[in-house]
Amino acid sequence: MRGRAVPNTVSVVSESRVSEVVRQNSEYWERLAPHRHGEPVEFFSSGGSALTDDELAAIGDVRGRRVLQLACSVGDEALTFARLGAEVTAVDIAPSHLATGRAKAEALGVDVTFVLQDMMTLDAELTGFDVIYISWGGLCWVPDLTDWTRTVASRLNAGGVLVISEHHPLWEILTVRGDNALSVSGDYFGTDRVGYDDPLKAPEITRTIGAPDVPHRSFVWGIGSVVTAVVTTGLTVRALQEFPIEEMYPGLGEQAMSIPATYLLTAGR
Ligand SMILES: C[S@@+](CC[C@H](N)C(=O)[O-])C[C@H]1O[C@@H](n2cnc3c(N)ncnc32)[C@H](O)[C@@H]1O
Repeated sequence: MRGRAVPNTVSVVSESRVSEVVRQNSEYWERLAPHRHGEPVEFFSSGGSALTDDELAAIGDVRGRRVLQLACSVGDEALTFARLGAEVTAVDIAPSHLATGRAKAEALGVDVTFVLQDMMTLDAELTGFDVIYISWGGLCWVPDLTDWTRTVASRLNAGGVLVISEHHPLWEILTVRGDNALSVSGDYFGTDRVGYDDPLKAPEITRTIGAPDVPHRSFVWGIGSVVTAVVTTGLTVRALQEFPIEEMYPGLGEQAMSIPATYLLTAGR
């Protein structure tokens, strides 16, 4: 039997279109942003962490280290890094998200530099980081994985680490139809996604306020594409962990624990 001849695609949008995709996605997210608040300030002040134990174990002690969070949204993970003693910069393309993050940082009395910035075209001064982190629905907004990993790798210090903590691409394309029943609702190899066939894969807030009526485009990056893009930049993959999370496949039953829901990739320079 012959396999389907599908390469591990890393670029799907022509260079000229990347900026248009980012512009559209920026408008989409700015419409959602006033409705997204993340964890309340009290969550952090009472010791809560927006970083998982697995992430913290992979990243190690961040005290005194320079951390860059990409697609930071309202900055919950950035605030957690700052409370752990890191020097944190966090970028996003939605001004209202950044405003929420700044207000929470001020209320908590922690320093996070929130910057309005496209993660595809980071300013030259955003460099020299010990940790670059992206998570939970951040990577799916990257229109060109080759360019993105090249940029990110160039902003890491020697000995620095890139941490991608994301929804698993298999989860992105599978829809629960009932107990132990799944259907394929997306294309693992297609990468380019306009809208969402399965509303559970869309940003969670859209289930409350509906989807903004503006074009937006996200991407399913398969594991092979991510690893290929990362190693092609010269980074060394230290670990690639996959995790089952039953709640991410609601209605599937115990079989949900036999398939991946998230992954955590750690790569060093
Ligand atoms: C689901 S949220 C990020 C996840 C974040 N870790 C969290 O849990 O809140 C996705 C974020 O990506 C941002 N985003 C999308 N495209 C971006 C780009 N090109 N550069 C920077 N941020 C981007 C959006 O504005 C949004 O805040």
